[in-house]
Amino acid sequence: MSIKVGIIGAGGMLRYHAAGFRAAGAEIVAVADANLEAAKRASDREKIPLHFGEVAELLKLPGLDAVSVIVPNKYHAPIALQALKAGKHVFCEKPPAMTAKEAVAMQTAAKTAKKTLMFNFNNRARPESYAMMDYIKQGAVGRINSAQAKWIRRTGIPGFGGWFTTKALSGGGPLIDLLHMLDLSLYFMDYPEPEWVLAQTFNDFIQDKAFKGPWGIPDVAKGVTDVENACHGMIKFKTGQIVSLQISWAEMVKREEVSVAFQGTKGGGLVQRLFGIDGMENTAIDACELYTQENGRSVNRSVAVPADETMGRTRSAANFVATIEGTEAPLNTPDQAVALMKIIDATYKSASTGKPVKI
Ligand SMILES: NC(=O)c1ccc[n+]([C@@H]2O[C@H](COP(=O)([O-])OP(=O)(O)OC[C@H]3O[C@@H](n4cnc5c(N)ncnc54)[C@H](O)[C@@H]3O)[C@@H](O)[C@H]2O)c1
Repeated sequence: MSIKVGIIGAGGMLRYHAAGFRAAGAEIVAVADANLEAAKRASDREKIPLHFGEVAELLKLPGLDAVSVIVPNKYHAPIALQALKAGKHVFCEKPPAMTAKEAVAMQTAAKTAKKTLMFNFNNRARPESYAMMDYIKQGAVGRINSAQAKWIRRTGIPGFGGWFTTKALSGGGPLIDLLHMLDLSLYFMDYPEPEWVLAQTFNDFIQDKAFKGPWGIPDVAKGVTDVENACHGMIKFKTGQIVSLQISWAEMVKREEVSVAFQGTKGGGLVQRLFGIDGMENTAIDACELYTQENGRSVNRSVAVPADETMGRTRSAANFVATIEGTEAPLNTPDQAVALMKIIDATYKSASTGKPVKI
């Protein structure tokens, strides 16, 4: 019997979730969206049999095993909690929640319901990340001492006044939106326990339309734009390890770069996506590299992996289904989501207080 999945939220990410669930053999039975018309359009386009304007209607469907939650960040925790209480496995888009407190409530609800709760940290499911993780697990890089997590854009503000730029709906700007590389660096380091965060956010360009991204997210004339356009910071772990981060939607950099570089006791590494044109995935060049000293020489290895224009998004959704079926280990856990949200909370706190924050 195939797993029956319902999708909540008919926005831009739905097609990747749908493709991933189907690739793993699941059946998509319905889509729900607060905007009934959007649900109908998605159901026609993606050939999903049923559509609803109410999440509760979808959750009532007999035989439904799981849902994916693809709505603005403010609704991740409430909808995930509703679904877990209804006894469904949950695959939730990133960020896990608006705050660590919400993420803890989700973690607890999943334990109580004895259901799988996973998040779409799709960059862990990129071919480059799978390859790098193989080397890390084999001990090829030794202990990772330090890492640099970067997702930087020159002109990548996702519209003005929509939910992405309204803190009450999104929880923040690029720091919380583009948290993938921070997550990936922590994943490579096996999620060490954080101790201190020192960070600063910047908002110089957040009202400047010259810095808008190319995705066609409409501006909302009377909407609120009150988030940062860039964040720089440093996280020190109890183990002595350290991560520096640079995350921006808008900043005076050469081009969009998405990368984790790290330095280990036996080798260094880099997983990187460089964009030819900011925001245009089809202009991207991916890299997976290892740096070692061998026979007294510096050796650089470039690992060839298959191209994945979806940045792991379909593979990540497929992993959720395989996790429920018990055929794959989950690519992420609720504990990691809580740890990540604690770091995000502390990063915003450090930026607003101007002080280092102890976690
Ligand atoms: N993993 C990735 O690469 C990636 C990329 C983009 C967005 N996202 C995440 O996906 C989520 C959705 O982003 P998007 O770009 O698809 O947004 P979107 O604005 O395109 O779509 C969101 C949809 O949710 C619906 N919605 C809003 N509130 C709802 C509610 N309470 N109940 C039911 N439906 C509701 C809206 O009507 C809309 O159709 C966000 O959390 C975002 O961070 C992830």
